[in-house]
This record gives sequence, structure tokens and C-alpha cells, in this order.
Amino acid sequence: MTTRRTVRRVVFAATCAALLAAPARAQDQARVASPDGRNVVTVQIREGGLYYSLQRDGRAVVLLSRLGFEFRGAPPLRDSLRIVATADTTVDQTWTQPWGEVARVRDHHREVRVTVAERTPPGRRFLVVVRAFDDGVGFRYELPAQPALGAFEIAEELTEFAMADNARAWWIPANRWNRYEFLYSASPVSMLDTVHTPLTLETSDGLHVVIHEANLVDYAAMNLLGTENRRLRAWLAPYADGVRVRGRTPFVTPWRTIQVADRAADLAPSVLGLNLNPPNVLETTDWITPMKYVGIWWGMHIGTMTWHSGPQHGATTANTRQYIDFAAANGFGGVLVEGWNLGWDGNWIENGDQFSFTQPYPDYDLRGLAAYARQRGVTLIGHNETSMGVENYEQQLEEAFALYESLGIRSIKTGYVGDLTRQGHAHHGQYMVRHWRKVIETAARHRITVNAHEPIKDTGERRTYPNMLSREGARGQEYNAWGGDGGNPPEHETILFFTRLLAGPMDFTPGVFDILIQRANGTPRRPEEPRPRTTLAKQLALYVVLYSPVQMAADLIESYADQPAFKFIRDVPVDWDTTRVLDGKIGDYVVVARRERGGPSWYVGAVTDENARTLEIPLSFLTPGRRYVAEVYADGPGASWRDNPLALAISQRTVDARGRLTLALAPGGGQAVRIRPAP
Ligand code: NOJ
Ligand code: CA
Repeated sequence: MTTRRTVRRVVFAATCAALLAAPARAQDQARVASPDGRNVVTVQIREGGLYYSLQRDGRAVVLLSRLGFEFRGAPPLRDSLRIVATADTTVDQTWTQPWGEVARVRDHHREVRVTVAERTPPGRRFLVVVRAFDDGVGFRYELPAQPALGAFEIAEELTEFAMADNARAWWIPANRWNRYEFLYSASPVSMLDTVHTPLTLETSDGLHVVIHEANLVDYAAMNLLGTENRRLRAWLAPYADGVRVRGRTPFVTPWRTIQVADRAADLAPSVLGLNLNPPNVLETTDWITPMKYVGIWWGMHIGTMTWHSGPQHGATTANTRQYIDFAAANGFGGVLVEGWNLGWDGNWIENGDQFSFTQPYPDYDLRGLAAYARQRGVTLIGHNETSMGVENYEQQLEEAFALYESLGIRSIKTGYVGDLTRQGHAHHGQYMVRHWRKVIETAARHRITVNAHEPIKDTGERRTYPNMLSREGARGQEYNAWGGDGGNPPEHETILFFTRLLAGPMDFTPGVFDILIQRANGTPRRPEEPRPRTTLAKQLALYVVLYSPVQMAADLIESYADQPAFKFIRDVPVDWDTTRVLDGKIGDYVVVARRERGGPSWYVGAVTDENARTLEIPLSFLTPGRRYVAEVYADGPGASWRDNPLALAISQRTVDARGRLTLALAPGGGQAVRIRPAP
């Protein structure tokens, strides 16, 4: 909903020939400042090339960085350029999210539209549109329809990010078969090769900068290639033939975004990318429901069940009924079932063309289970693993989603395990980005929500298509079941929060209670073997820290039997009115407080890396004068991820806004707190 909107348009420089001929410097440069005046972008011509730079508080953040394109079969859009017009706008509006980390988002920015043209034939024109917000800036290219620029093939986008400081970057490598599923490394920006975004940087004077993109719709995903002098260049994921993007004018690119914050804790919740996406296009959103879910899932990852048919097949009618009953009894919205459909027998990772998305295995009564779930107020979550058989999936998409809709299956989980590079295309090129959009749109037509694994990175499309609920796109809990390196290290989630999660929600799948992953004979896994490198309290804290509108209770349902800690998972919401990051340092720890949507209760989640630490948190976010009960799930005496992960201390006490919470976190530990009004 728009509460206030002021749009002011001033044309600085007219396009009249007399003005263009004048040598005045003003036409070589355009500037736009954020509403608070702190972030200033300058777009300028230097020796016929087009560049931009970013300053904050008068200090350089991004130095002169090139803009433009190289094409296949056409001269580059790079040389003999001039600025022919600029136009300014200011926008201040607030809109409401159907679900999210915060209910209301303010979009307050200043925009400059810079029209640029070649001085020499073919005399093509394009625009660079820059928006400056208090939390960062975004810019994109617009290519208007014109005789000299119709259909085009982009060979290179020339956009650069020349970092002024040799900032510390938290990065994962791009262009590898394993997509986004890597542990993060930290190095000076001058050392980077090709990395994914969001790329989070901390400068030597403590400024935090995040480079990412917004509204990636019909383009290739942007990676960043380190070149000389701390200069990162856009590196677009290519088609098999090397072309990066195919298009026809009129055309707009995704936004290139640079988020800036004085402290790590100010980076989240990040709304810059949401503000740069078009508003919701769905007529109704009441069918889109955030939810908690359980699933026939962890058993396959720890090896006690199989996706494929046989004696250990997980997706049986009997198992699924138990999961439906469990979900209904605990107020969960969904049951994920993996391995229900034909195609898992044999080497499924390489047989993506074998999957059926409509035909169940004989021991899985799809129709009966869907009806039983409906009757119990739960939805089945249909699992669509494609193994990168993208064409096979697209051929069945319409029929499959129509079937799910008719059965009352309101949600799907997609998966893209497999190697698209075998077909020559990059995992995150325009080919996959187009497929991705097709799935979201088809799902929306059938009123289906999507949770995607091995996804295209989040660039904020949930604003336009709120049925795009969540995704993986990082190393999630599954690595703690089988990761060859023993699983995610204790610092992992303290990095994810400040990197991957700035893009949007993540289906991390927290809530493993059998942290030692007892074997059938009762022997636990050793610390060197893959298992969650967290304490139990940290598994609970992750529900608050790692935001997702769909949160799984990932363990086998029997692991929750007689576990007092399970109450926290039952209570914790998945939709928030307000989010406050109370404290945090990338790779060390983070403390987040969130207030539930439509209610007065707050939830606090704190997680630490391999180091124990004690944090003091003021409760000033609570409503003054009100008394609350804090239900605390803390690491118990002697807890540590390695030797004693299950030690948990549950306690209650009365608190108010003048008080403080002391959070004592064990090595690899955490704390989860529910703060509800006192009766
Ligand atoms: C990888 C996904 O991340 C995981 O959740 C899923 O169980 C498997 N692929 C099989 O689809
Ligand atoms: Ca995965």
C-alpha cells in the first residue's frame, strides 16, 4: 500500500542541439545523492568513455568505474560517448509485504536518468539510471528501441566496481559445478578471482559494502571477476556459444546494487533489492501462506531411507500419513515428500530426463495422501527434483502444476542437482534465468508457492511474485549429513547471515535434534564425521537468525518425541513485523530480535562460531511499561558442539524494556528466547 508519494521531475539539461554543442563541464557529468546526502553517485565521461563513482560522506567507496557493453556482431557501446540529457526524480513511498522480515518497507530515493549517445556512427543511445537510497545505490542500463540497435548479443558487460579500499571480502567461487554450495572464504578484494554475489566487503575503516544485483529476469546472473587494482568486473554467466545475453530493444538490464552500512549489524534486513523490483503483480496473495514443515527428507541424507524404490523407500503411504499427522498435531502447514515420483531409480543425478512429475511410485498413494493432508489442514509439498533435466521439466510443468492444484497441493520444492555445464550452458546464465521465471509464473497461475534448491540467486523477485517463498543457494544443513569435510564449520551461519541471507530468505532446514546422528546400533558419529557442528540451542536459534517464510523441522519426527526443546519450534513464527539486528560481527556471532507479525511477542536468536562468548543485550526493543515472560533455551553447563552438543538449559523469567539479557553461548552454540507478554 502506498502511503505517501512525491515525485518531482526536473530536466537538468535539455536535448537541444545548442546545449549539446556547448563545452560546459556540466554535461559531462551527472550526480545524484541519497535523501540523507551521505551516498553520492557521479556518472561522467572521460576521454569518450562512460564511468561512475560512489562516495559516502565525501570519501571514495567506488572509484571511477567503467560502464558499457561489448556486442557480438556489432561495435562496442563504449567509446565516443557523450551525456545528452539528465532527469531527476525523488520518490518516497512505503509499501507492505504480504510476508517478510519486516511488514512495511520504505522506498525513499533520488534518481537520475542519464541519457548517453555515441558521437560517431552508428550514434546509438542508451540510458544509465541511478537510484540513491540511504542504504545504498542501484543502477541499470536501459536500451531504447532504435534503428541502429534492435536485436543484440552481449559479449561482455563492461560494468566495473573499482574498490577504493583493499577491503576484506567474504566470497564463494563462481563458475564451479557445485553452484553456490561452498564455504565462504575471506580475503582482500585485490586477491579475488571470480566470485558470486552478494559479495560482502568490510573496508579498513569499518564500512560494510555489499555488491549484488536486483530484478534479474531475462539476463545472465552477474558474477564478479577480480582484475588489477581492486577492480571487480561484471562477469555474466554465458550460453554454450559464449554469448552472455540475447535481447532486443527496448530492453532493461537488472540493477547493479551497492549496499553500504556503517556497521555489519546495519546490513540486515536488506531492502535495497526489494525496492528495485517491480511491485506485486498477483491479483490476490491470501493463498500464499508462510509455514513450518516437516518432511521425508533427512532420512535420505543420513542414509536410513532412500529416494528410490525398494525396502527402504522413504516416500511410502504409511510414512507420509505419520508425517501428516505429526504436522497437523503441531500446527505445521506442510509435509515435504521426496522420492514420491518415478525417476529416482538408477543414477538419478545424471538421469534428469527420466523424472515424471505426475506419476507416483506404486507404494505412494498420491491422491489419497493429498486428500488426507487436506482433511487435516496440511498441504503436501510436492518435490520436483529435475537433476538439471530442464527441458523434461518444462514439458511437464503445466500438466504437473494443474494436477497439484487439483489435488490441493499448494506448494512445491524444486531442485537442480546435476551439471548443466555438460550441456554447455552456465548454471546461472540467461537460459536458466528464463526457465526460473517460467516456473515462478506457471506456479503463480496455479496458486502454488515455490521453495527452490540449487536455485538462481535471489535478486528480490519475491516482491513481484510473492509465491516465490524461499530457496537454498548456499551450503545448508544437508552438508551436516554427508559433507566430505565433516559438515559446515561452526562459523558458517555467522557468515551466511551477512552474505547469502542479504539476498533473501534461505531454506537452510534447521532443527536437527539428533545432533550425534545415532546409528541403528546406537553409536553416535564422531566430531570428525559429518554431523551438525552446533549445539542443540544453536539449532533453535537458527529459526530466528536465518530468515525464511518456510522453515523446516528437518529431523526425523521421532527425534522430536519427548523433547522439551521442540516447544520452541512449535512456537516460533515464520512471518515478522519487525526485525532488529542487535549485534554481530561477520564470521564471529550475530544476535537478532524479531517481533511476530500480528502479535506482541518477540523472539531472539543468537549464534556464535567455534568460540564461546557472553553477550549482554538491552531489551529496549520491548514496549515500555509492559511485563513479559522470557522463555530461554540456552546452552547448558559444559555444552560445546564437539563434546557435549545436547546440553540445554530451559528457563523462564519476567523481563521488561529496562532489563537486559545475558546470553552465554558455548563453542558452536547459541541461544533462542521467546519473549511473550506476561499474563
Ligand atoms: C539437494 C537438495 O538441496 C536437497 O534438499 C534434496 O533433498 C536433494 N537435492 C534431492 O533433491
Ligand atoms: Ca543443495
